[in-house]
Amino acid sequence: MSRQHIVRLVSQKGGVGKTTIAVNLAVYLKGMGYETLLIDADTTNPSVGFHLGMERASIGYRSIAYGRSPLREAVAVHPSTGLHVIPGIINAKPFIVSDEAVRRIHSQLGKSDYRFVIFDTQPGYANFHVSKYVDETLIVTTPDMPSLSSAIRVASTLDRLRAKHSMVLNRYSGRKYEVSPREIGSIYEGRLQAVIPEDPIVPMSIEEHIPAMELGRRTGFAREIASFGRSYCDLNMSGEPEAPLREGFFRRLFRFWHR
Ligand SMILES: Nc1ncnc2c1ncn2[C@@H]1O[C@H](COP(=O)(O)OP(=O)(O)OP(=O)(O)O)[C@@H](O)[C@H]1O
Ligand SMILES: [Mg+2]
Repeated sequence: MSRQHIVRLVSQKGGVGKTTIAVNLAVYLKGMGYETLLIDADTTNPSVGFHLGMERASIGYRSIAYGRSPLREAVAVHPSTGLHVIPGIINAKPFIVSDEAVRRIHSQLGKSDYRFVIFDTQPGYANFHVSKYVDETLIVTTPDMPSLSSAIRVASTLDRLRAKHSMVLNRYSGRKYEVSPREIGSIYEGRLQAVIPEDPIVPMSIEEHIPAMELGRRTGFAREIASFGRSYCDLNMSGEPEAPLREGFFRRLFRFWHR
């Protein structure tokens, strides 16, 4: 990989696992030796700090968004992993990030040495129109139709904005009533990057303030995040995403619904 890669995790529905995946992917990439910056850009309900035990930060994303501090002054170092984090201020009022602020933040990121920058965001479409600064948007969904349906709508919006995207299925247990990876493949034209299992290590890790990748290295969750992270590095080094999947039954059904 020759340059910085900026990834943003999004969903329109809340609570699908954006923060969980952002935190643990960042911990994995840092553990692999990549200089990685995790930014809690959730301006309504920041929660990265809960996963990392960094919920008492005094300078956070808001300070750089408002131009009060340069990026490097807002960076905190997670003690056990060495991961660089720009936390959110948990008690702060929700705020809106202007286009000018987005430009300012990305101009500073461009001058930094980070190989990976991972943005955790709030649910919804905030700052989608400035997608040009982001290399890839990961749409997170859970294995149910309401969540997948909203994820497909997010994908359409990103397509209109010509923003590159892929999907992550989180909390998958393989139960009969769940939407399966195969069904997603037949509905979603982009790449399904990872299937992350439902795993009790996640709520346990939030309770302990230790990232799940550290607390439960041998869990199914950690294994899948690691394999996701590995393929992620490979994907970015080789550049091109895989060819879109063939149109299947569910995709045709979806096109029928969304005519
Ligand atoms: N793979 C998983 N296995 C078990 N529980 C999970 C998993 N992923 C997320 N969770 C649980 O789901 C809840 C929501 O996860 P998370 O905060 O990461 O979602 P989010 O998309 O960031 O939410 P928000 O939209 O509010 O920012 C958390 O309490 C977490 O414990
Ligand atoms: Mg979140």
